[in-house]
Amino acid sequence: MPEQGNVGGGWQERLSALRNTPPVLKIVWQSGPGVVIFGLVARIFASLLPLALLWIPKLIVDAIVHSRVAGQPVSPRLWWLVGAEFSLAVLSGILARAVDYSDSLLADKYTRHVSIQVMKHAAELDLIAYEDPVFYDRLERARVQATDRLGMIQQIGRLIQLVITTITLSVTIIVYSPWLMLLLIAGVLPAFLGESHFAFLGYAKNFRQTPVRRQLDYLRLVGGSKEAAKELKLFGLSGFLTRRFTALSDGIYEQNVALSRRKLIAGAFLSVIAYLGYYSAYAFVIWRTVTGVYSIGLWYLLSGAILQASNNLQQIFSTLSGIADQALFLTDLLAFFEMQPTIRSKPHALPAPRPIVRGFEFRNVSFCYPGNPRLVLDRLSFRLDPGERVALIGENGQGKTTIVKLITRLYDPTEGEILLDGIDLREYNLDDLYREIGVIFQDFMRYEMTARENIAVGRIDELNDLDALKIAARKSLADQVIAQLPGQYEQMLGRRFDGGVDLSGGEWQKVALARAYLRDAQLLILDEPTASLDARSEFEVFQHFAELTAEKMALFISHRFSTVRMADRIMVLENGRIAEQGSHQQLVALGGRYAAMFEMQAASYR
Ligand SMILES: Nc1ncnc2c1ncn2[C@@H]1O[C@H](COP(=O)(O)OP(=O)(O)O)[C@@H](O)[C@H]1O
Ligand SMILES: [Mg+2]
Repeated sequence: MPEQGNVGGGWQERLSALRNTPPVLKIVWQSGPGVVIFGLVARIFASLLPLALLWIPKLIVDAIVHSRVAGQPVSPRLWWLVGAEFSLAVLSGILARAVDYSDSLLADKYTRHVSIQVMKHAAELDLIAYEDPVFYDRLERARVQATDRLGMIQQIGRLIQLVITTITLSVTIIVYSPWLMLLLIAGVLPAFLGESHFAFLGYAKNFRQTPVRRQLDYLRLVGGSKEAAKELKLFGLSGFLTRRFTALSDGIYEQNVALSRRKLIAGAFLSVIAYLGYYSAYAFVIWRTVTGVYSIGLWYLLSGAILQASNNLQQIFSTLSGIADQALFLTDLLAFFEMQPTIRSKPHALPAPRPIVRGFEFRNVSFCYPGNPRLVLDRLSFRLDPGERVALIGENGQGKTTIVKLITRLYDPTEGEILLDGIDLREYNLDDLYREIGVIFQDFMRYEMTARENIAVGRIDELNDLDALKIAARKSLADQVIAQLPGQYEQMLGRRFDGGVDLSGGEWQKVALARAYLRDAQLLILDEPTASLDARSEFEVFQHFAELTAEKMALFISHRFSTVRMADRIMVLENGRIAEQGSHQQLVALGGRYAAMFEMQAASYR
């Protein structure tokens, strides 16, 4: 049988997955120690009750039988026993509710705790990690697992309760006859093995289906996205997408059905074995009672105990395999938490210089993206002096944005070094360095938040300083955009939330630009953030920028020469190197690449 190998491998993987349990328990504990203790205490008390609830009736039955055989009136003790049983029954109901209550509190606390930890950790990791599909898969699964694995906590709690109850019942059974216990275990064991086997197959199946599920998610996203809606309609793509979705999800459905069917058949067979074990034990107890070895009360106690012990054993096994199964799923979450960023501050890192006196320098910097050996930057060297405004130009894909990511230390160079005031960037405290740089990227974020918040993200401490936000908005010309919004600075932007107003690409850019002005940074970088503005608006925005950054260090990237010529120095990037640099006049006079590009753009306006 082909699965035979699977079972072995599955077992190993399962047991090793149980190693996940301690770290998970730690996470659970951290999410709410008080609730954990409360739940544990309630469960421990609840787990002792089943035996007591069998024992008291045993005493009652024996007392009744005794009084009838002896022909005496029942003693008042009997009524005390009935009263005690009543109290325990009430207590057991209360404890069950207390357990539910603590479970649901803990579930909420756990979800919140893990979600926050995932967000925090994701923010710490290298940006470069996001280029790696394996990482991305893991992050996605960690996200789902953050909320999806609550069952595990309840199951661990249940397991503790079941184990204690089963121990009390088993000890009772063994005291009267060890054989009874053996019969029960022999019946339950195969069911447990079967259960785990299928749980593992289910996990393996889900794991295999991950790529397809990602595709399904993507199709679902495209099929319902605002960005795609125009093309979906005009190109008539809806049928194409739904057909592809149907085909893929049919495949998954068939695999699921096939597994469920096998599980149904095997499960039915295994439960027959479990019943055989239980009924043999039951018959044994009856036989001993009939032959006078056990009293009627004991018959009641033992038959109740074996019934519950048999059920509990099955549940222990299935809960255990459920926990192992859930723990397998948590592998990704824990592996995600174990990932460490490589771009981080060294211990005793230097504070960023303020003011910057010698500027930035790239020295023979080479860079390639992971999974692609092509050198995007090839032994690139250049300087960025204090008080200088530099424009970086070059065709698409030449590596302009990559340079920005390197200056801001979102990536580290593959080779070579980047110096700030003569010291390698890696020596500086990272948060400090980030604080000194204001960047607006080409693909800046459009936060579906208010206009005020959209500016304030540039320096989130200023969120409540509306005056500071207004000054920044005036500098970036976003104030004109905001003045026309019905809610002004409190206007919700974007369409996701009720009452949101969407902006045009150019309007968003002005809002994003205000973030850069809000920062009290020594270096401002604009990476084509104005590409959606018309030429005149861009000119206006950059004229402002040039005035506002006079005497400051600024780097900007643009394709428009009207903008570029405002720079003190222009660098032309080609094939990973600086091909030409100088002022506009110098470069035009040089008659090289810059001159040719300038002539081409000028011609198109004539
Ligand atoms: N995250 C990435 N992973 C792999 N390659 C990338 C990534 N980002 C950019 N590249 C590649 O690096 C080159 C330079 O990209 P980029 O710096 O964005 O160019 P530019 O900003 O000049 O248009 C391009 O060829 C691009 O395909
Ligand atoms: Mg770019």
